[in-house]
Amino acid sequence: MSKGISQNAVTPVDVTLTGIKKVFNDTVALDDVNLQIRPGEFFTLLGPSGCGKTTLLRIIAGFEKPSAGTVMVGDKRVDDIPPWDRNIGFVFQNYALWPHMTVFSNVAYGLRLRRLDRRQIEEQVEWALGLVGLSGMSKRVPGQLSGGQQQRVAIARALVLRPSVLLLDEPLSNLDAKLRIETRKEIRSLQRELGITALYVTHDQEEALEISDRIAVMNKGQVEQVGTPEEIYDSPLTRFVAEFVGLTSTVHGVITERGTLRAGDLDLYTFPSSFMASGLAAVGEEVIAAIRPEKIRVSEDASALPLKGKVEEVTYLGSSRRVKVQIASRSAATPPLTLLAAYSGTVKPGAEVSVEIEALSLVR
Ligand SMILES: Nc1ncnc2c1ncn2[C@@H]1O[C@H](COP(=O)(O)OP(=O)(O)OP(=O)(O)O)[C@@H](O)[C@H]1O
Ligand SMILES: [Mg+2]
Repeated sequence: MSKGISQNAVTPVDVTLTGIKKVFNDTVALDDVNLQIRPGEFFTLLGPSGCGKTTLLRIIAGFEKPSAGTVMVGDKRVDDIPPWDRNIGFVFQNYALWPHMTVFSNVAYGLRLRRLDRRQIEEQVEWALGLVGLSGMSKRVPGQLSGGQQQRVAIARALVLRPSVLLLDEPLSNLDAKLRIETRKEIRSLQRELGITALYVTHDQEEALEISDRIAVMNKGQVEQVGTPEEIYDSPLTRFVAEFVGLTSTVHGVITERGTLRAGDLDLYTFPSSFMASGLAAVGEEVIAAIRPEKIRVSEDASALPLKGKVEEVTYLGSSRRVKVQIASRSAATPPLTLLAAYSGTVKPGAEVSVEIEALSLVR
């Protein structure tokens, strides 16, 4: 999808959103969003349906006016600039191609509005179709293309205007799983080679973790956490982030004097002394811990590891397995605790196992 394009690299710009608020009638769609997207960064907005992702993109593009706040692209404040003068490319979820027009005309549309001459238009369209690997298809109409090819036309149509920022709103959601994975890799490598600042929207956490430089996890119109994929996955700050991005077991407990996490009548995990010294959590504090399945060791030897448990459920995932383990409390009066662990062995439901928690994150 990307041959010999480095000479066409764009000058990357940053995008700064300050205090963005959007109210529709009585719905607060965005509530004080502050983000700084760095030049040339692949930045993803990740969050559930209705959390405000599309609204935020539309505000940056200029299709929607914020109720409060400002948008800066590079060092230019764009709030009062109409969409077509913002130099921002937009790729929509449903492609939004004109069905009766050829691929060529779809891509050329914006150039014609800019009144470029025919030679220039042909050159630019050829360049953009070359970028997305559709050079031979300019005479077809969208109905003669696959979903993935139609989405590439939409990308070419955005890029042909040489935008300084590319916005993509769930561009892959109409594609089947395999094509989605292929196409997202292509979008990422195209973005890298062009060096263009890209803001990408998805509700697919795996997609976000794979392709992003940084991710903003959104919930109910607010940004819950901004970070690299590793930071978001390994160190979620909130319960929402932990549970939305990947699987997690969530445990309520208290920090004991010995620096352990106690849940019910069990000591689940001992914090490193450096963590206790850091003052991030205090003795006696009630906390919520999020534990990733990969951070839980499971042994088929029922006494090898500190916690005793019983396998409740085994889920086969192809390359690995996931087991749900019920951790037995010391006294029958305390309800048992359920943990989700990654495990590649062959335990069966009902098996007595032992378990150790290797790491966890405290969340709010
Ligand atoms: N034009 C509008 N008029 C009224 N309410 C709107 C309008 N556009 C969006 N909303 C509301 O604002 C909130 C955010 O919507 P938005 O489309 O930004 O969510 P989203 O994160 O893109 O969701 P999805 O993943 O389903 O696309 C929702 O509650 C939605 O109903
Ligand atoms: Mg949306």
